[in-house]
Amino acid sequence: MKTLSQPTLILSLLSLLLLLFLLAQFPPPAQAKFSRLGVHRPRSPTQARRQPDDDDVESDFVTFYYNQTLDHFNYRPESYTTFRQRYIVNVKHWGGGGATTNAPILVYFGLEGRIEHALENIGFLTENAPHFKALLLYIEHRYYGESVPFGSWEKASRNAASLGYLTSAQAMADYAAVILHVKRTHSAGNSPVIVVGGSYGGMLASWFRLKYPHIALGALASSAPILYFDGVKPGGGYYSIVSKDFKEASESCYKTIRKSWVEIERVASKRNGLSILSKKFKTCSRLRRTFDLKDYLDSLYSEAAQYDEPPDYPVGIVCSAIDGAPNDDVLGQIFAGVVAYMGDSSCYDVASDSAPPAPSASAWSWQMCSELVFPIGHDGGDDTMFPPAPFDLKSFTKICRSRFGIVPQPHWVTTFYGGHDLKLALHRFASNIIFSNGLRDPYSSGGVLENISDSIIAVSTINGSHSLDILTSMPSDPDWLINQRKTELEIIGRWLSKYYIDLVQFKLLPSS
Ligand SMILES: *[C@@H]1O[C@H](CO)[C@@H](O)[C@H](O)[C@H]1NC(C)=O
Ligand SMILES: *[C@@H]1O[C@H](CO)[C@@H](O)[C@H](O)[C@H]1NC(C)=O
Ligand SMILES: *[C@@H]1O[C@H](CO)[C@@H](O)[C@H](O)[C@H]1NC(C)=O
Repeated sequence: MKTLSQPTLILSLLSLLLLLFLLAQFPPPAQAKFSRLGVHRPRSPTQARRQPDDDDVESDFVTFYYNQTLDHFNYRPESYTTFRQRYIVNVKHWGGGGATTNAPILVYFGLEGRIEHALENIGFLTENAPHFKALLLYIEHRYYGESVPFGSWEKASRNAASLGYLTSAQAMADYAAVILHVKRTHSAGNSPVIVVGGSYGGMLASWFRLKYPHIALGALASSAPILYFDGVKPGGGYYSIVSKDFKEASESCYKTIRKSWVEIERVASKRNGLSILSKKFKTCSRLRRTFDLKDYLDSLYSEAAQYDEPPDYPVGIVCSAIDGAPNDDVLGQIFAGVVAYMGDSSCYDVASDSAPPAPSASAWSWQMCSELVFPIGHDGGDDTMFPPAPFDLKSFTKICRSRFGIVPQPHWVTTFYGGHDLKLALHRFASNIIFSNGLRDPYSSGGVLENISDSIIAVSTINGSHSLDILTSMPSDPDWLINQRKTELEIIGRWLSKYYIDLVQFKLLPSS
């Protein structure tokens, strides 16, 4: 999730999962694109692939379906309708393979995508299952992957009435029901539950600990921008970090990008300007407006920053190419950056607005148009490489009205979950949440970066990126990343030790 804005307009929300998802276009007058916030890395050819070491890790997972209640929050007859919610269990290491009772359960909260992506990418659970002797549970988010109500995506997405059950509160109630179901079916009533999530899933994990403390003992919320709402943190935060990342990688690269926006407009204003630009950037179809090119570049820089991580450090790759090209041709330099990032290709899909949005992208757009209103925009100023185009709720509302027939509720997240004066609100009330962040991740600008109490702890790394800590580890991982993960394990270990003492004291002690 992230919002892009461009001079002529507006804002476009994105999140940079895969460029593929960035392509939904909206009817005039508002041009915008929505996409998502995600843990999974873009498939830029320049980026390393993460694979679990253990090739047959998949065979340890068993898939189940739970008859989930459509609407947890009222008792009208239609609320009792159910749908099949997918969840995946791995008991290989649970209790050390023996009969040990009360061993923990690690739960991964699905986000705006298919749950199997988590099995491929999220190493935190599989790698730590032996250490905790944990049962692993992965739950798919409603309206994504196979966990779609009304029998099909076509039916579920038909209108605002059928999409109306897609809310974070419903999703968390689903997770609560599935966790309790799994505890029942595994006779694990006293097993402590640690919930883990990244990105939007991290937001859900932290909120879940606050709303369901009787179900989750603690939460690891990786790169969870829970403060990016309702003016708690500035809307320009996202892009100020993208700019910072580029400036730190190379001052001259940053300056070249900063200059390029005007240069694009200058060339476009010539006779055949759009054809010249199309040739220059080898676009697969002829450019029809400069917005598409600028938006493409905006997304590329944002994505490189969001996932700027070892061993490749994509921001460095883009900047080396920009700095390495002849410096009398700004657009040639920019194009060299595109090629370096995207790989050599016969053409670049700059304006493929014909592709319909993928179901997951549409569902995520719905969530952003209803409750998850991220006011991400270009606030302008001296230390940005983007032209000013702040978030504009009016245009955003117009887009949401025309796309879904609904009006965004930008105050709901802070009303329902909090966010303003978080420390004041939580430091005595709440406990057992880790907020982890990588400060190169633009979303860290909406993250919790300070310790709130002894057990609500911020674990940040200066050079980290989006949800890096919960991904499958790699041999090339630097010490700071290894240490971040170690800190998280130690903290969770402390929560568990305390829990087992409490369990004996409050529950298992024979009552006299
Ligand atoms: C779930 O619902 C399906 C269809 O309504 C039904 O056939 C199945 O028995 C249900 N499963 C459980 C465990 O209740
Ligand atoms: C929060 O506290 C932990 C120790 O419990 C410490 O390692 C960490 O550096 C602190 N974070 C901040 C941002 O001060
Ligand atoms: C972060 O990265 C920069 C540039 O690559 C490097 O100079 C710095 O030492 C790193 N900082 C840490 C804490 O690893």
